[in-house]
Amino acid sequence: MTQAETPVDPALVAGEVARRRTFAIISHPDAGKTTLTEKLLLYGNAIHLAGAVRARRNQRSATSDWMEMERERGISITSTVLQFPYNGHIVNLLDTPGHQDFSEDTYRTLMAVDSAVMVLDAARGVEAQTRKLFEVCRQRGIPIFTFINKMDRPALDPLALLDEIEQLLDMEPVPINWPIGDGESFLGVFDRASEQVHLYDRTVHNQTISPEYITTLDDPRIRQRLSDSRYDDLLVNIGLLDELRGFDPEATLAARQTPVYFGSALTNFGVQLFLDDFVTFAPAPGAYGSTRGAVDPVTQPFSGFVFKIQANMDPRHRDSVSFLRICSGRFERSMTVRHPRTGAEIRLNRPYRFFADEREVIDEAFAGDIIGLPSGGRDFAIGDTLTSDGEFHFDPIPRFPPEHFARLVLTDIGKYKQFRKGLEQLETEGAMQVLHEADASRRDPILAVVGVLQFDVVRARLQAEYNVPTRLEPMSYGVARIVEGPAAVVELLPWAYGMLRTTDNRGQVVALFRSEFEVGYYAEKYPDVSFKLVY
Ligand code: G4P
Repeated sequence: MTQAETPVDPALVAGEVARRRTFAIISHPDAGKTTLTEKLLLYGNAIHLAGAVRARRNQRSATSDWMEMERERGISITSTVLQFPYNGHIVNLLDTPGHQDFSEDTYRTLMAVDSAVMVLDAARGVEAQTRKLFEVCRQRGIPIFTFINKMDRPALDPLALLDEIEQLLDMEPVPINWPIGDGESFLGVFDRASEQVHLYDRTVHNQTISPEYITTLDDPRIRQRLSDSRYDDLLVNIGLLDELRGFDPEATLAARQTPVYFGSALTNFGVQLFLDDFVTFAPAPGAYGSTRGAVDPVTQPFSGFVFKIQANMDPRHRDSVSFLRICSGRFERSMTVRHPRTGAEIRLNRPYRFFADEREVIDEAFAGDIIGLPSGGRDFAIGDTLTSDGEFHFDPIPRFPPEHFARLVLTDIGKYKQFRKGLEQLETEGAMQVLHEADASRRDPILAVVGVLQFDVVRARLQAEYNVPTRLEPMSYGVARIVEGPAAVVELLPWAYGMLRTTDNRGQVVALFRSEFEVGYYAEKYPDVSFKLVY
């Protein structure tokens, strides 16, 4: 049996796990995820001036085309992990890629968190991407905290927003506070539990913590800033809050309720109230399902799973980092662990902790933490389990079938070796799947992706990281199926007619179709053959 070098004190592990809060922010692009992340860091004392993360990201962007693309399109492609202490807790914030085309990466990140913060734009309510991500959270049954952002702009009626959450998401929203005004006259929030009002002042460029004044509803500053009718509406609405159900921590943990906070990430209003509550009520790391049943985070020795692999994070090192969510126990530097998929035993000498794009080697970590493991030539794959005790696997990470296909043509034939290496690495990361056409006259590989923007990312990264120029030839296929059945029958399928025969890197026959309709047609015509979903 492999184990940590020093004996682990169970009480220490229990205490450390209990104070961890590992979460991700889900939102539709532009709702304010990046801004709120930054303000949580500001209030968590992890940065001193808001604007730094964005600025640093921009600085880094200049170092490659891929990053350049990230900057130009205003989307975040790489997930970063941010860890900071707050009020005795250790907060692990996993940044999820913002663009809808990157949903698969985002979904994987959501497998590695214990709760989620849903950011809504107060003028837009629940948008498409939020809904999709919300569904993933619901499938996992993780608690969701809602932050209704941009109250400093004209907003929808707060009651209508709550209604929308209830109708669209089928979850009971419980306002923890209530906005005082909106747009120019957004002054702060009324806290339901204490019946106190928190008023704020703006700061220069909103870069530093906003001064806060705790007062009551009859404060003259509120009366002066709101018209009589708005003030009366406010009192009526706050009166109505008594009719709404109160906050129930148990129902929140069971994902039946979502506590709702109003605020403005840009001006910092309501951010601290939110963060204080979040670290208090969000769950500590919970058990993960595995082939050995539920793995308890405290009583079980070290285990975890890889949910993301990222190559060339630092162009100077050209390395590949596997991100591991620790699911149980204590991790210690230089520990030897088992890799059940390959049967290997691995000594983890250089585990990293991340803060934005900076990294440091750490000596220990606990369930709930995310550590980065440089690959050093090891073949970690997404979903791999690492354990210090026994052979088991965590439940597989759900995958999504590719829907877009294109040939990738290498335009500088002298770069063939780098081209292959780059494709292999990017496929390991789960950026796309590579298929090869059975007709040997077409040697250009076919990329299969879930969202079309992944094509651009793959091309940009091949160029930036491997110096490989490519051209894309889109194909009109929309569905891929693994073909299984008696070899003679598979051989004689009408391959030339609307079905393209390819193989994947595991040697499986994969047929590409234009639509589901054709899959159904062939499935009916060839009952001996099965057409299975490709993941
Ligand atoms: P995202 O990560 O969810 O995509 O959103 P992000 O935080 O990048 O915010 C999108 C835009 O909304 C940004 O404006 C940001 O400043 C603005 N924003 C975020 N929170 C608030 C808020 O509470 N109030 C108001 N009024 N605006 C907010 P931008 O013009 O696109 O970018 P920038 O020039 O401000 O950086």
